[in-house]
Amino acid sequence: MQTLTVSLGERSYPIHIGAGLLARDDLLAPHFKQKKAVVVTNTTVAPLYLSQLVEALGRIGVSALPVILPDGEQYKNWQTLNTIFDALLSAHCERSTTLVALGGGVIGDMGGFAAACYQRGMPFIQVPTTLLSQVDSSVGGKTAINHPLGKNMIGAFYQPKLVLADIGTLDTLPDRELKAGLAEVIKYGLIRDPDFFRWLEANIDGLLGRDREALAYAVQRSCANKAEVVAADERESGERALLNLGHTFGHAIETGMGYGEWLHGEAVAAGTMMAAELSCQLGWLSEGDVVRIEALFIRAGLPVRGPSLDVARYLELMQHDKKVQDGKLRLVLLQEIGAAVVADGATTAQISTAIQGRCG
Ligand code: NAD
Ligand code: GLY
Repeated sequence: MQTLTVSLGERSYPIHIGAGLLARDDLLAPHFKQKKAVVVTNTTVAPLYLSQLVEALGRIGVSALPVILPDGEQYKNWQTLNTIFDALLSAHCERSTTLVALGGGVIGDMGGFAAACYQRGMPFIQVPTTLLSQVDSSVGGKTAINHPLGKNMIGAFYQPKLVLADIGTLDTLPDRELKAGLAEVIKYGLIRDPDFFRWLEANIDGLLGRDREALAYAVQRSCANKAEVVAADERESGERALLNLGHTFGHAIETGMGYGEWLHGEAVAAGTMMAAELSCQLGWLSEGDVVRIEALFIRAGLPVRGPSLDVARYLELMQHDKKVQDGKLRLVLLQEIGAAVVADGATTAQISTAIQGRCG
């Protein structure tokens, strides 16, 4: 097992990464103020992993109430969030009851937001079970639900007390979801870690083949990158925005196609190619680097073109991005592999050309 720390003063917390961690009651024990917990999960993950976690909690004397939500990005909304509040209130949960989110990024984001809101904040723990949630969404305290007009538009920054990433849970993850997670892994290489990008080029086949050692390394290195960025800029006033490479385009794809149609990681991959195209057009990224990025996404089984929505529709959806300032779009662009910037200088015509060249 590897342990990293997200350093945020008195709100610092550990990320444990390894196989078999769901059964490690010793790792859970220090984080419960009360002998009562709620485990928020979904109909897919519950039959696979809920009992292991509930049993581990039982061994440390914590009784856990499961809240089992429907599965899917299309349920990451106000109505489903409200069913969590219904369950918390019906079970007389208190401010010191712990909420444990067991599942992928949808459960982590929605469970985290419920924890941030319930009685103005209850302790919460992330137990991510997808590659994407282990390398990205469980770390850093961004919690949210979607709005029909925009992805992750309603939410809060709210840090967990613990992240328990059991890479053994990846054994049951469908291939499509594993590939989607790789988009966020590749992102770290692109924005700040060129050595990791080279490592990914050499090891992508091992990751797709679910080599345990390669997966553990990729999760650990991704989390190390994320923990550093979050410690430096928790509330995204600067560097943290770079973690959104490809996301302005990607969120437009997810919203425009209807939540759940394109997986988040797939939309991020296609969106990253649009950002790379634009970076090249601006004379920053070389054509050779665009080809290299595209080649890695293709080998990872990820899309390198977005769906054929109208360019005007892309632009309209992108206006809901959280980086928009005074009505002006700000995009994460690449200077080279391993170096990204937030830029607001691209013209609408340039952005349109990049989308046009990479959709349909
Ligand atoms: P997801 O939560 O929908 O999970 C993907 C699918 O895998 C679901 O069907 C789920 O039930 C299933 N699943 C989960 N674990 C499994 C397992 N071990 N075995 C078999 N099936 C399993 O999707 P995701 O990719 O984990 O997360 C995407 C979400 O994360 C999006 O809503 C995105 O906006 C959000 N996100 C948030 C952040 C953040 O910083 N908070 C960062 C990136 C993405
Ligand atoms: N996934 C983007 C962030 O955490 O900032």
